[in-house]
Amino acid sequence: MIDINTAKSNLFSSGFLNVDIDPTLDLFEEIKMLKKKKNAIILAHYYQDAEIQDIADFIGDSLALAQKAEQTNADIIVFAGVHFMAETAKILNPTKKVLLPDLNAGCSLSDSAPPELFKLFKYKHPDHLVITYINCSAGIKALSDIICTSSNAEIIINSLPKDQKIIFAPDKNLGAYLNKKTGRSMVLWNGACMVHEIFSLEKILKLKIRYPNSKVISHPECEENILSISDFIGSTSELLKFSNQNDSTEFIVVTEPGILHQMQINNPNKLFIPAPPNNSCACNNCPHMKLNTLEKLYLCMEYELPELILDEKLRIASKVPIDRMLKISKENGL
Ligand code: 13P
Ligand code: SF4
Repeated sequence: MIDINTAKSNLFSSGFLNVDIDPTLDLFEEIKMLKKKKNAIILAHYYQDAEIQDIADFIGDSLALAQKAEQTNADIIVFAGVHFMAETAKILNPTKKVLLPDLNAGCSLSDSAPPELFKLFKYKHPDHLVITYINCSAGIKALSDIICTSSNAEIIINSLPKDQKIIFAPDKNLGAYLNKKTGRSMVLWNGACMVHEIFSLEKILKLKIRYPNSKVISHPECEENILSISDFIGSTSELLKFSNQNDSTEFIVVTEPGILHQMQINNPNKLFIPAPPNNSCACNNCPHMKLNTLEKLYLCMEYELPELILDEKLRIASKVPIDRMLKISKENGL
């Protein structure tokens, strides 16, 4: 049975509890005030809109956001990201209120692994440990041995004995990339991210001809054909670090274009070109990430809705592999 808070949150997210915003309000100032008044922290992923990044207290990749969520003293965590990220914050902070500006902000990669099917997959590989990318539901986390992100996946895999059989889920592209990097033969779940799967190799190569001195920098969720022509491959924070430190002044960025905001702030004299997808769009926004808006962020802080609610048994089970990830990351200076 659905509890009252979940019902309220769902109604709020779907617009049934409609609230008009006074158009004369300065939302930036209002949000700042609410943060102070409610002892709230806004955590934002690099794929959020620029204005959300600008008002956030902390911007990061999936690992940094999970670490920040674990350490915060705030009473309310407002997660400007997608559902699995807010869920991770709740798993780590059962006593805090975790808000997500739009509860429908899901993730195609997370959706590609339904727990019931994954359970069967696990039974077929009984002697395997399960390493799961953080982009998955709490149900999948509860079925996993260790969680990883794109920033620590190699370290997590290498922490296991060379002959340990491993299932890697849910991203087959990241899994194939990691198999190559670590020399393992992990069994891969057949999932992918809708954003990173549709970059056009042909259009990227044409851009490379137009900008011959540019560096192609890609996220490992991309397909092998894209990764094979990339000058650098890394998580969002690693891509940002590379663009800060590399001497090149032109970069073709093959990931969700929200990251360009921080790249441009840090490097006002460098050119960042978002890689185009294989459709008629010029850039490749994540439709889930982009469901969050400044207006929804304001409303969610004012009304403290929608709230992320999680079954306690599921929370406890899904925390175990996250704790293992955080411990290994800390031991390795991440
Ligand atoms: P990272 O920021 O951890 O690299 O993750 C990318 C991503 O796809 C998040 O949804
Ligand atoms: Fe999910 Fe891909 Fe969007 Fe990240 S970019 S939230 S992996 S759909």
